[in-house]
Amino acid sequence: MEAPIPEAILWDDWHAVAELETVRQWDQITTTLFGRDLTVTDAAPGVRIAYADGSKTLPASIKYGLVWTCLGTPQRDVIDFPESAEPDRYVISTGSFGIRVSGLRLVENFLDIAHFPYVHTGYLGVESSPQVLPYTVRVTDEDEILVTDCRFLQPQSSPVSTGSLDVGYLFHVLRPYTVLLKKTNAVEPDRSDTIVLFVQPVDEERCVGHTLVMSLHAGDPDEACRWFQRLIIGQDRRILENQRPRRLPLDLKSELPVRADLASITYRRWLLDHGVRYGAIAP
Ligand SMILES: [Fe+2]
Repeated sequence: MEAPIPEAILWDDWHAVAELETVRQWDQITTTLFGRDLTVTDAAPGVRIAYADGSKTLPASIKYGLVWTCLGTPQRDVIDFPESAEPDRYVISTGSFGIRVSGLRLVENFLDIAHFPYVHTGYLGVESSPQVLPYTVRVTDEDEILVTDCRFLQPQSSPVSTGSLDVGYLFHVLRPYTVLLKKTNAVEPDRSDTIVLFVQPVDEERCVGHTLVMSLHAGDPDEACRWFQRLIIGQDRRILENQRPRRLPLDLKSELPVRADLASITYRRWLLDHGVRYGAIAP
């Protein structure tokens, strides 16, 4: 049976489907997007992406060390981040991680700071200090979700941190499967590092999270950055794969809203308003 076609807002957008380095290394890889098997073939300097059964060649793009495609008709470009052009930043693809859960749940987890002390103990939080201070959430004129004024005490906020830091956070949901955070740089506390999560929906209950770090040169060297992201997302994976249902319920009454969940409630409502049902459970 043919896999269902998701809503146009998802189908007609670009999605990261592989790290370029992996494609160059193996010449050809297979992957799955919205339940459709694809082949990604090294065709340096570019790549060729097609349905695995050879029925159709798909648009292909390379950006941020990642390979992108669109199964529908792209309505806009692969997302652009102004800070990726700043000369004193690394722009590093820091790994792709398969997780057995809806991609929407992975985005929601990324937005949730309340889990830091329990899931990322000793790195992004401490169990003795679990309070989430009030923060602000709004939907911008560009129809994106912006979460500001978050602060969290972190024992090891990044690979280069040398002690506890009161870390300021900003979260930004730009598209249903694209979310970033900016957090205080451990070496230059008046500037921020950016970490982006691009979610590849494999199907409604499985996804791949592709991570991108844009950090200051004063900060993390390449390998330490990859190691740190792998550590953190490995901790998240254990929690995420135990979540039931695997799809994200959009019924706001099904999980008790508390102040700390404001970002997650806003994300669910925003998905509902945009008609996103793929990987979700509609109310
Ligand atoms: Fe986490």
